[in-house]
Amino acid sequence: MSNILIGVSGGIAAYKTPALARIFIKAGHSVRFMMTEEAARFIGPLTLAAVSGRRVSFSGGEEDSPVSHIELAKWADLCLVAPATANTIGKYASGVADSPFLSVLLALGCPVAFAPAMNCNMLSHPAVRSNIERIKSWGAHIIEPDEGDLACGDTGKGRMKDPEKIADAVLNILGERPVESVAPEMSAGDTEPETPEADGDKVKDILEEFGGRTLEEYLDNDETEEESLEGFAAGRPLEGLKILVTAGPTREYIDPVRYISNRSSGKMGYAVAHAALDMGADVTLVSGETGLVSRVPDTVIAVSGRDMAEAVEKRVSEYDILIMAAAVADYAPESAAPEKIKKEGERLSLELVKTKDILKEASLNKKEGQIFIGFAAETEDLEKNALKKLFEKNLDIIVANDVSRKDIGFDSDFNDVKLFFRDGKVSETGKRSKKDIAGIIVTEGAILAGGGK
Ligand code: CTP
Repeated sequence: MSNILIGVSGGIAAYKTPALARIFIKAGHSVRFMMTEEAARFIGPLTLAAVSGRRVSFSGGEEDSPVSHIELAKWADLCLVAPATANTIGKYASGVADSPFLSVLLALGCPVAFAPAMNCNMLSHPAVRSNIERIKSWGAHIIEPDEGDLACGDTGKGRMKDPEKIADAVLNILGERPVESVAPEMSAGDTEPETPEADGDKVKDILEEFGGRTLEEYLDNDETEEESLEGFAAGRPLEGLKILVTAGPTREYIDPVRYISNRSSGKMGYAVAHAALDMGADVTLVSGETGLVSRVPDTVIAVSGRDMAEAVEKRVSEYDILIMAAAVADYAPESAAPEKIKKEGERLSLELVKTKDILKEASLNKKEGQIFIGFAAETEDLEKNALKKLFEKNLDIIVANDVSRKDIGFDSDFNDVKLFFRDGKVSETGKRSKKDIAGIIVTEGAILAGGGK
């Protein structure tokens, strides 16, 4: 069996790499990841570490493996760069080694394959074409991208090939059996892997394949790479961690039959609560009225902002992590009219008063070691507004998304968010399933909280 080194450079297609690793691992190969700093903006090093069972090299993140670039290059029987950006291909074609990632590429003594992913105009640019031809002439394998809708909104050639097709090509280079025989549920004819949701499921499958170790064991484990991460992500890595999650909209009643609310469906918050539950955390979900089915045994329905504030205030001090995904009304009638308001006069004015900012209030009594995560739904100035909320509400992470986009957010099963951390780190998830994003949010929160017990 072979040692396959997957080099992830900074493209949105990075989200497909866990699925790729799974195919190789299922086929009995060993996988290691190295990633550029740019790639860490698209996929968390921890996700890749969990999938491969080994620390990731060169992301610039905490999870960096201390394995030197020469050791890594010697270890590999084949190196696959996926996604391969125009920048990485260009630098490799020019023999540039201005990062450990590129140094590994130049130090390799094994076959190397590139799966390019970029905008169609970039791909057809003569500079990029000639770089690709150049590296091909040295023996590099190019796994040509497909035509289709691109992340930037254009349509054309530039989409990274689907994981099973890339895996097919790689196993071919290694002279091995085709993918179908090792991963029948991901055969080439299967259209499911097209969707990010399907990829999210694959990631989950992968995580489930490693058993045993808790997140804390992983975090405490200093024995560098090899088996150090193996298995932490499966089982119940967050056992012992108490997580309070809020979800959904609030309803602010005007009278017994009318209320003011918002477009929140609750899907993101429910996905977060379920992800935490599935990882073994002790979860309480405080939810507005959503119509969704909660799998969390301790689910509390809080209809109005006031109900939600009460429910959170009462509990928050006992939790390690608070994740406020609820869309709480900012203004509400001071009190609801006791009887249905009758139709009289041509106009009706409603007077609304500011509600309590639950997160801000909770942060005033935030205990040492507690981790608070907020959401920022924005239609403009995403970064500026998100950072303002991060500091004003004394949060550790703020998850920001652009709610003006029609393809994500509110009622969608997908989202595309940026995580702003207190220390200035920013990571982008790219468009993917809410389930997948929920796993990332919970994992990042758990790492800050120091893992399960
Ligand atoms: N939040 C809260 N209590 C409120 C309003 C919001 O706890 N009364 C929380 C939300 O759950 C979210 C974060 O604060 O985690 C940001 O919510 P958002 O609606 O984006 O921002 P606001 O603070 O309400 O500011 P604005 O509406 O002006 O953008």
